[in-house]
Amino acid sequence: MKSRIWLSSPHMGGNELKYIQEAFDTNWIAPLGPNVTGFEADLKQFLNTDKEVGALSSGTAAIHLGLILSGVVAGDEVICQSMTFSASANPILYQGAIPVFVDSEEVTWNMCPIHLEAAIKDRIANGKKPKAIILVHLYGMPAKIDQIVAIANKYEIALIEDAAEALGSTYKGKNCGTFGSYAALSFNGNKIITTSGGGAIVCNTSASKKKAIFLATQARDDAAHYQHSEIGYNYRMSNIVAGIGRGQMEVLDKHISLRRDMQQFYKNIFKDVAGVTVFEEPNDDYFSNHWLSCIKVDESKASFKREDLRLALWEENIESRPLWKPMHLQPIFEKYAYYGTNICEDLFNNGLCLPSGSNLTTQEKERITQVIAAFLA
Ligand SMILES: Cc1ncc(COP(=O)(O)O)c(C=O)c1O
Repeated sequence: MKSRIWLSSPHMGGNELKYIQEAFDTNWIAPLGPNVTGFEADLKQFLNTDKEVGALSSGTAAIHLGLILSGVVAGDEVICQSMTFSASANPILYQGAIPVFVDSEEVTWNMCPIHLEAAIKDRIANGKKPKAIILVHLYGMPAKIDQIVAIANKYEIALIEDAAEALGSTYKGKNCGTFGSYAALSFNGNKIITTSGGGAIVCNTSASKKKAIFLATQARDDAAHYQHSEIGYNYRMSNIVAGIGRGQMEVLDKHISLRRDMQQFYKNIFKDVAGVTVFEEPNDDYFSNHWLSCIKVDESKASFKREDLRLALWEENIESRPLWKPMHLQPIFEKYAYYGTNICEDLFNNGLCLPSGSNLTTQEKERITQVIAAFLA
């Protein structure tokens, strides 16, 4: 059996163990310590922002805290991009709030501003203004941020950016994760940099970061004994995990460049293939980290079906996956309101994510090329 080629696997830089060793040497084996503060400082510097970064146990925790800090409580409505991973939407339910799903547009595959505004108007007409908007930058592609921010501002609704997949992506030169009132980053095992599992929240002010960390560390009031006036969570990042993050920050720029090379690699492979479009930035305002390279197959023009390509790769032990299945089609979320047509449904039916790791070897790329060439022939 040939070795598995993964969609996206961890890629260590080399210095991660050095930071972990330092944590052991100084006995900072806790959810706080120099690696945590160092990793936060590295992220803040990388994002080139005045905002504050708090390291957490996951990106999901960051979205959950972003909702709490935006004042979302039980019964509130929260607008969420339908085309995403379930972790964008689950925290809405953790809060006892009600998701309202919005379709994507065809250019960035992210939230459609037209459907967003229609949804807000309709919810207001129904007597309830949404409390927050969760915008995702899928596969690293920045959303139509100017338009979404303008709508969020017009209706005075908090914007939470789910930038879990978009560390290193920029829109008009500004980093994804710095546009919303809050943003979530993820360092899960499959992300552009990983801490094995972990995330971060980006907050507008140091006061809101302080509150986020307070909630993430069991909401302990200021007292010698254990005193609690609010519900707390155990969401802080460990100092060991943050050590991996510090090592990964040293190679983040390299990973971005290698992921972008993978997208070029697929553009080359599919350049003369009818009915296949490789996902790419619409213009120079957008810079994607191309966390995952994806294609869309127009079966009316292509000589094959998306699913057959997936199976051909799978037979050779090469992982590829359909694009995210929209939330409004998921059994757990299908009872909630949805505004849109069938753009995200069409993307799910015809899109494919391809192996995109920054650690793919020349031989692995050669294998991918050969399997796709043989399939197309
Ligand atoms: C779009 C999106 N949102 C949220 C998450 C959740 O991040 P985490 O796994 O760190 O909780 C992920 C990845 O896992 C994701 O891809």
